[in-house]
Formats: sequence, structure tokens, C-alpha cells
Amino acid sequence: MTVERDPTIWPVVESAVPKDPEIEKKIDALLAKMTLEEKVGQTIQAEIHSISLEEITKYHIGSVLNGGGSYPTKDAKGAFLSWVAAANAFYDASVDPKNGRTAIPILWGTDAVHGHNNIVGATLYPHNIGLGATNDPDLIREIGAATARAVRATGIPWAFAPTVAVARDERWGRTYESYSEDPALVARLGRAMVEGLQGTPADATFLVADRVIATAKHFIGDGGTLGGDDQGDTVMSEADLFKLHGLGYVSTLEAGVQTVMASFNSWNGDKLHGHRYLLTDVLKNRMGFDGFVVGDWNGHEQIPGCTVGSCAQVINAGVDMVMAPINWKDFYRSTLAHVKKGTISEARLDDAVRRILRVKFRAGLFEGKRPSEHPLAGVEAVLGHAVHRDLARRAVRQSLVLLKNEPAVLPIAAHDRHVLVVGSAAESIPMQAGGWSVTWQGRDLDNSYFPGATNLWSGIEAAVKAAGGKAEYSPKGSYKKRPDVAIVVFGETPYAEFEGDRTDSIAFKDGGDSLALLKKLQADGIPTVAVMMSGRPMWVGDHLKAADAFVAAWLPGTEGGGVADVLIADENGAPRFDFTGRLSFSWPARPDQMPVNAGDLDETPAYPLGFGLSYP
Ligand code: GLC
Repeated sequence: MTVERDPTIWPVVESAVPKDPEIEKKIDALLAKMTLEEKVGQTIQAEIHSISLEEITKYHIGSVLNGGGSYPTKDAKGAFLSWVAAANAFYDASVDPKNGRTAIPILWGTDAVHGHNNIVGATLYPHNIGLGATNDPDLIREIGAATARAVRATGIPWAFAPTVAVARDERWGRTYESYSEDPALVARLGRAMVEGLQGTPADATFLVADRVIATAKHFIGDGGTLGGDDQGDTVMSEADLFKLHGLGYVSTLEAGVQTVMASFNSWNGDKLHGHRYLLTDVLKNRMGFDGFVVGDWNGHEQIPGCTVGSCAQVINAGVDMVMAPINWKDFYRSTLAHVKKGTISEARLDDAVRRILRVKFRAGLFEGKRPSEHPLAGVEAVLGHAVHRDLARRAVRQSLVLLKNEPAVLPIAAHDRHVLVVGSAAESIPMQAGGWSVTWQGRDLDNSYFPGATNLWSGIEAAVKAAGGKAEYSPKGSYKKRPDVAIVVFGETPYAEFEGDRTDSIAFKDGGDSLALLKKLQADGIPTVAVMMSGRPMWVGDHLKAADAFVAAWLPGTEGGGVADVLIADENGAPRFDFTGRLSFSWPARPDQMPVNAGDLDETPAYPLGFGLSYP
């Protein structure tokens, strides 16, 4: 599909981070002394388990990452200090001066997308869909700062966050990584997350100490693919691409985001990883982005003519650092050959390396400090610190959206009352956390992988007791003593990326268990509260009929106590916290009503963008 290209559709963006002439001079000096091999090495990012320390030195590798569910130790519950030890080892290998090589510190990146989510014991915040419902930039900025502290505690200076996708079809498995269907809300919250993670240039620790480098991802149009097909095709005019999917890049570039991750999707049939117009002409030359573009996990392999080990096209298109997690050595060798042959110009190579060095200088990597010498490195207490858990619990409270409360069952006045909590999801931390939690998919886990976390059942039990009532947990809904009210908790089984794509409908499915539980309790004449934990709005028409109250809890993370804070009243029956969350996505009225977004002419959602009830 050929479309008119007009770079003036995109704004020129003034970054909060001006170029520093002193840094530019240092880069010039480094570039002048670096060998071709050293330059090529800087453009390669390898996965930590596919490269040795000797190879980091030998191939002058510029970056490593730990993928979702990857840790320095064999399993997730490995020693916390192994992270800092690994960071020191990678650093030492990268600056080893042997054979007169140029010492350029390596940059380790990790997916800290809702807290430092690969780490056992870390505080996990609500996923972005829940943060979108809070519509609270100050809260998101605090979460970004807390996340940066946790990432720094492991010796890592770079987080692959925030996702500024604008999910427009909730069949997409990454909907929960998006703040909203509303581009302006995504822009507002994405900016706040960048400012929290990186700080601002006015902060003494901007990009250093307790702050990290952030990543605006995935450029561009990841949330706009046909049918929500992950890595699919976003088909629209250039004006719509900017209007719907570009605002998050304007706001994060203004905030001074230092890296942008290229997206797997296509625009009108052309893959973004090979899209020179969008990556270079628009993002860099027109909008003025002067950090570096990192490719996504073997994203280069999807470019026509490329392989997992060789792809001049992505570098020529504007990817500066290629995420070649496993086949990094082939990619290094092929890129070196491409430069020697001229299929990648030395000028392009120098531009990519200049950008990478610029970010490394800005982030203090050349200050000569090993990762363990940074103030928070090795401080395990940061991960589950009470301040962070309280912040996460506040975020949970503010993320909850009350869709129905008729007759008014909420808040539950628990004094002298018996509250039944039903559904195995009520005690499952993995269900609360969702994907990107300890493992990539958030599955094959139990609560022991989330020490210090609070599940919904424990939170409710404590709150009911404090109010002078009694709570009982019954996964299958059976009871001896008739309860005064029942809370039925259910949700989606965790997933990440394409594994969460829905190709059938947007109807919630759990084999009918939760609906049967609700109907049984309703038939017994017991007031019911449905609490759904999901990565997206889903059609739940029958559940809504069988429940007196219905709460969308999204994916709340480790601090499940925040749900009880809002559902359970105090000993006098007064609300302790109100519902303030409002839908950041339109809620489908039918199983096949997808996509459904504000402004669509022909669709009336069950609940519109911005909907949410509060207590009277
Ligand atoms: C994944 C995701 C990206 C993530 C990267 C590294 O495929 O698309 O968001 O940052 O790989 O884990």
C-alpha cells in the first residue's frame, strides 16, 4: 500500500536534555580511536545467558539484557546479590584494557514494566491498564522513581519501559501493557513514567544513582494492528498513525527519554524494524530524537532478506543497537562484513555508535564506577520496602473501577457479619501479577515466588476482622454458615505478548466456573460482589447479571490488600477509601464488539471510556 509521506505531520520536539558540547567532544575522541570491530561491538545487545565474559571483551559488546524470566542464577529464587555480581562481571569484562582495546562500559537493560518484575521479592505495581484507570501522573511518576530504585539495587541502569502503546483492539495480548485507548492519556502517563524512571535534568541524579535510562516502546503502532494481532499490520494513513499512536513519543521525547525500542508490527505492510522513513526521517531527523533506537527481540529477523544473524537493513533503517539475544556472534560478524563491503556505511555505523555513547555518557557510565559502587546497589531492602509496598497498594486502590453496585452491596459493612470469599483466584498472587512477573508469561509459579505480597483473600480477611466481622475462604463456594455477602474473585490466566492474543471473541472465559459460582450464590439469595482480574475489558454480560456489584481490578500486582481497602468499610460501616478509578478503555457490550473505542460511530460500549462509579 503506497501512502503519501509527509514528515511535517510530525512535530519537531524539543527534548528536555540538550546536547552537551563536552560530551560530544568526548564522543568524537572515542570514535577517533575506536577500531571498526569496537564500533560494531557497541551496536550488539546479547542475552546474558548466551555470552561469556571473555566474549564480551573479545567482541567489544555494548549491551546485554536479561529477557523475561531470565536471571543471573539458574532459577528465579537465586541469591539477590548475584545480580550485582553479574553486573560487575559484565562491566569489568567490557572495560578490560587488554591488547590496548578501548574501554567502553557495557549497558545492561531489563524489562521493569510494573516494578522490577523479574526479581523474586520485588514490589509489583498494577500493570499499565490499571495505572491508566488511575489517571494520576503524579502517582505514576512516583512508581517510576520507585522502580528505578529497585532496578539500581540490582546494579542495572536501564529499564525497557514505559510502553506507550495505544491499544485499540483488546484482543491484543499486550493490552494490559497499554495505559489506554486514549492517545492523550497515554502521552500524559508515559511522560510521567519517564520522569519517574530517569528523573528530570533538574534532578541531581538525572539518569544516575537512583535513576535509570528509560525506553519508549514500541515505535510505532504496536497497539493498532488489525484484530489486535500481536506483531501484525497497522493499516492507516500517516496522519492517523501520528494522531492515534504518536503522542506518547512526543511526550516522552520532550521528557528526554534516552532510548526508543523499535516495534515488531508493520505499518501498511512494511515492518517497523526496517522502516527507514519512520525510524530515521521521522523519529530522528524530524522529531529530533538524539538517543538511540534499540531493536526488539530478533525483530530484525522479520525483515525481508534478513536472517536472525544478519540484517544490514535494520541498521540502515535506523536501529542503532540490535537485540540479537542468542545469535549475537553471527550478527557481529555479518555486520562487520557489511561495513567492510559498504552495505552499511561507516557514517551510519558512526552515527549509531555516537548515539549509544551519548546515552552512556549522559547516564554516567564513564565515571569509572563499577555497578556495585552505585548508592543502591546490593540494597535488597529496596525491593520490598514498606514505602514501595504502600505506594503499590495506593495504586491498586486508585486503579479499581466499579462498574455496578445495584443494589448497593458495597462498601461491605463487615461488623458482626460473615463474609464469604469465593474462587481460587482470591489467593493466587500469580493471577494478581499477570504476565512479566518473575517469568515471561507469569505462569508456572506459586505464591512462594512473591514473598511479602498480599493476595486478595488475605487483604479481605484482615479488613473484615478489623471491622469486627468474620471472613471465610471457599475456593469452590461451599459454606456451612450462610454468609451475609459473598465476594467472587476470578480472572484471566496470566499471559504475555502473542500468547495472550484472542482470535475468537472478547468474551471472558474460564470454563464457566466463576459464572456458576455467582449464579449459585444468587440463587441462594446471597448478595454477591464480582471482582475480575484481567489484562483488558472483556464481555461479561452474564456475570454482570448474576452479580449485585462488579469491580474491574485489572492486574493489581503484589499488593492485593488495596482491593479490600476499597471494598470493606470501617467498623462503623463507612467507606475507608472510595472508588476513584475510571475506565481507560471502552468496555465491550457484546462478545464480538471489538474493536470498540471512544468516537467509534457505530458502536455503543457496555461502559464508555471514563466510566466508573463511586460511593454515594
Ligand atoms: C520482548 C518484548 C519487549 C521486551 C523485549 C526484551 O519480545 O516485545 O517489550 O522489552 O522482548 O525482553
